[in-house]
Amino acid sequence: MPLPALLFEVFTLLPEVFEPYLQSSILQRAHQRGLVEINLYNIRDWTSDRHHITDDEPYGGGGGMVMKSEPIFAAVEGVLGWPPACPVILLTPQGRTFTQSVARELAFGEDTSVPDQTRRLALLCGRYEGVDERVRQHLVSDQISIGDYVLTGGELAALVVIDATARWIPGVLGDPDGVLDDSHASGLLEYPHYTRPAEFRGWSVPEILLSGDHGRIARWRREQSLLRTWQRRPDLLETAPLSKLDRKFLDHLKTSFISSEAEVSSEATGSDEPAQPPGTS
Ligand code: ADE
Repeated sequence: MPLPALLFEVFTLLPEVFEPYLQSSILQRAHQRGLVEINLYNIRDWTSDRHHITDDEPYGGGGGMVMKSEPIFAAVEGVLGWPPACPVILLTPQGRTFTQSVARELAFGEDTSVPDQTRRLALLCGRYEGVDERVRQHLVSDQISIGDYVLTGGELAALVVIDATARWIPGVLGDPDGVLDDSHASGLLEYPHYTRPAEFRGWSVPEILLSGDHGRIARWRREQSLLRTWQRRPDLLETAPLSKLDRKFLDHLKTSFISSEAEVSSEATGSDEPAQPPGTS
C-alpha cells in the first residue's frame, strides 16, 4: 500500500464518535484507496492515576471543568515525539475561522502544490470548558474554529476539518474537478444544479442547460454564481477574483436594482431567480 497523501492523528476523549461517520462516507472510500488515513487516540489512555482523570476544577474558581495538561502532553508526545513531528491543531471556538482556503492550506501546505508525500496533521479535540492554557501556549501550533458558536467539544469540528480537507486530495472525489467547482473554491457560491427529469411537477430545467452549447452554459453558470453570491453573500465579492466580464455583469445587476428598486426580471439576468439586493434573500 502506498503512503497516504493525508494522515490525521486525532486526540480525543471520545474516539467512538468518529467511527460511524468515517466508516460510512466518502472518507471510507478514501481510506480504502489508501489516500487518507485517520488514527484515533483516546487521551484517557495517557492518564497515570487510578481513576483516569482528564479534567479538573479551574484555578480561581468559576463553573465548569478544565482539561488537564498532563494527559494531553503525554498523549501527543507519546505519538508524535517532542517537539511534535507535525502541526498540532487545537479545535476551539477561539481559533481562526475554518474556510475552504484553510482546508486547501491544510491539505497541501501553505503553497497549494500537489503533495508528493504524506501530509501529517494532529487534531486535538477540547471538551469541558476548555483546555489548560499551557496546552495552547506550549503544545499547539494552530487553532481552528468552525464558526462563531460553541459546541460541547471539538469532535464535530475535527470531523468537519477532516472531511473538507480530505476532499482536496486528488482521487478522493469521483470528479477530479469537483473541488474546484464547489461553492467557495472560486471565492463565489456555486451555480444551481439540475438532473433528470427535464420537467418535474411542472418545473422545468433552464433551457440553456439542454442546449448543448458549452460556451453559453459556462457563461450562464458563472452569472448564476455571481448573482447568488451578490444576493446571499455579498461580502465574498470583495475578495473573489473577478474578470472584467464578471464586473460588468455585477454592475448590470446593481444598476437594474437601483433603477427599478424592484425585482429584476429573470430575462434580464438570464436567471429563474429574481435579482434581489444583498441582504434581502
Ligand atoms: N469546540 C467547541 N466549539 C467549537 C467551534 N466552534 N469550533 C471548533 N472547536 C470547537
